[in-house]
Amino acid sequence: MSNEDAKKRIKKLTDEINSLRYRYHVLDDPTVTDEIYESLTQELVKLEAKYPQFKQAHSPTQRVGGAALEKFQKVRHEVRMLSLSDAFNKEDMLDWEARIKKLIPDAKLEYFCEVKFDGLAVSLRYKSGALVVAATRGDGEIGENVTENVKTIQSVPLDLPIKKDIEVRGEAIMTKDVWNALNKQQEKKGKPLYANTRNAAAGSIRQLDPKVTASRKLQFYAYDLVMDLEQTTTHEEVHEKIKALGFKVSKYQKHAKNLEAVFEFYDHIGKLRETLPFGIDGIVVSVNNLELFKRLGAVGKAPRGMVAYKFAPEQVATVMENIIVQVGRTGKLTPIAQLRPVFVGGTTVSRATLHNEDEIKRLDVRIGDTVVIQRAGDVIPDVVEVLPKLRTGKEKKFLMLKHCPVCKQPIVRRGVDYFCVNAHCPTKNLRYMEYFVSAFDIYTVGPKILQRFKDEGLISDVVDLFYLKKEDIQSLERFGEKSAENIIASIQARKQVTLPKFIYALGIAHVGEETAFDLAQRFGSIQKLMNASKEEINAILNIGEVVAQSISDWFRSKRNRQFIEKLLKAGIEVEQVKIHKTALTGKSIVVTGTLENLSREEAKEAIRKAGGDWVSSVSKNTDFVVVGDNPGSKYDKAQKLGVKTIDEKEFLKLLGK
Ligand code: IVH
Repeated sequence: MSNEDAKKRIKKLTDEINSLRYRYHVLDDPTVTDEIYESLTQELVKLEAKYPQFKQAHSPTQRVGGAALEKFQKVRHEVRMLSLSDAFNKEDMLDWEARIKKLIPDAKLEYFCEVKFDGLAVSLRYKSGALVVAATRGDGEIGENVTENVKTIQSVPLDLPIKKDIEVRGEAIMTKDVWNALNKQQEKKGKPLYANTRNAAAGSIRQLDPKVTASRKLQFYAYDLVMDLEQTTTHEEVHEKIKALGFKVSKYQKHAKNLEAVFEFYDHIGKLRETLPFGIDGIVVSVNNLELFKRLGAVGKAPRGMVAYKFAPEQVATVMENIIVQVGRTGKLTPIAQLRPVFVGGTTVSRATLHNEDEIKRLDVRIGDTVVIQRAGDVIPDVVEVLPKLRTGKEKKFLMLKHCPVCKQPIVRRGVDYFCVNAHCPTKNLRYMEYFVSAFDIYTVGPKILQRFKDEGLISDVVDLFYLKKEDIQSLERFGEKSAENIIASIQARKQVTLPKFIYALGIAHVGEETAFDLAQRFGSIQKLMNASKEEINAILNIGEVVAQSISDWFRSKRNRQFIEKLLKAGIEVEQVKIHKTALTGKSIVVTGTLENLSREEAKEAIRKAGGDWVSSVSKNTDFVVVGDNPGSKYDKAQKLGVKTIDEKEFLKLLGK
């Protein structure tokens, strides 16, 4: 074969195999047999070996090739990967719509519905139409580079019909068939089983060896597109675009004119759920109009214009054999039901939470009772009901402890919960350390290792972790030089953290990832947050009285402040958040009358986003009053006090709009 012919043949084979792949893996509609597909691929492999200079960058033979990795590199997402807030029933959905209407009263709302895949979110970055990076969601800001693994997924195109820079997001999933077959193999090999299709998909993507991922036959369903969407006005059109780019999109989707139609789709999909080849845990509902969607913005990590409408959690009955009391990282004592193991929601469970003493009384649940438990997603199941008819008379009432089950110190009640307030309670401290290393992504140090380090006297709090030396660890039994090195390296590698992560890792009561993110956005540095007043914290849109109090109390404690100092002294570097300073930053602003371009809520949020304080009444401390149509008495008061007033036009200018 001449060079010229070889080149042509390689190109033709590449294109043909790719289009057959598309028919088979994206459209689920193959046009040739597997044998034909396979023989064409073999021919290409041979030709490429002989004429490597003609190999195409997007050749199908490039999908599995990469060598096993040592670990995954981090990737910063160019656009943050958000998550969704949940709704569980019609009422939640009506509330969601009401919140939108409050923000944008005259909005004409139509929705787009699609199934919510139970897999792992993946982002695909294309440069000039070629796949360059595939990453997991991670914490939304930083994910892991899993490009080599994602390339093995046949429904992911390696190149696109348009040669642009775009990002496509979607879900890597494993079908139920593949999951069952995989578990059979795992069982044969004596390896742990995957509890559900989601864990299996996630576990398969996070394999260091791409060959293992390739063997797992994952699929990728696309649902979002990050690019210039000038010509596109609805979410529905975005889906069409994604499909036209060669991605697999779910056929279970619907444009719904109102919530009634959304409820119909939800019921319809709910009935189909069991028969679908892949796992889903609900539907995703979006405000279809992209302009409205954008205006609605985000709360914490979730867009306001989109919601996960989840299916009812699964319920089963089992026997509660005992109640134990668990000590959490904040010292909170949680009664836990120990169950006769039972399969629910795709997993075998043997524990459920009873939350607190009041809940035990409300349920009137006794040791030995047959109980109904329910499980939603990843969380520990709840006991929802007792089946009293099945009682034998031998069931025993539970008495709440008077002392911490671990350190035996007296406990105190706060609200509905009891707390161990002993600063030196060993379990409480251990639980906090576990929380901290997980928040800091120190994967090499799990609960068992922490316990061991503690028992060996190597650490007494998390700060000590950062002072550990290789020699400290390698001298311990069962730890070699290599594992000691790994542990030290992974701890040291986590010394630079983002501000949200640092705040989250402090373990302040009521401060989850979202609140930590909001605090970081508002204050920009840990020092500023430490010195913030309760009022300033409370002024953040998504933070209410109780949470603000908890945060403020936490930072007032001398012990906690010293803890932060110690962390910083140990070399933790907290990346500051750049607060976009505007003319409104730090200003106290009142709005009166009706604005033409912004609803009241929108104005409020815009001010807060710009770092200003939205206040409801005028005082001499007010920096200025924004005056709309038909202003009320606030305008008069501003005049009287000599507070500066501005009109809407000027206000928009200050907002940079
Ligand atoms: S839209 C704002 N559409 O659900 C981020 N997400 O709870 C939502 N998911 O991280 C993107 N199916 O992993 C979207 N059809 C779907 C989805 C979907 C599953 C996952 C995704 C996301 C999570 C949010």
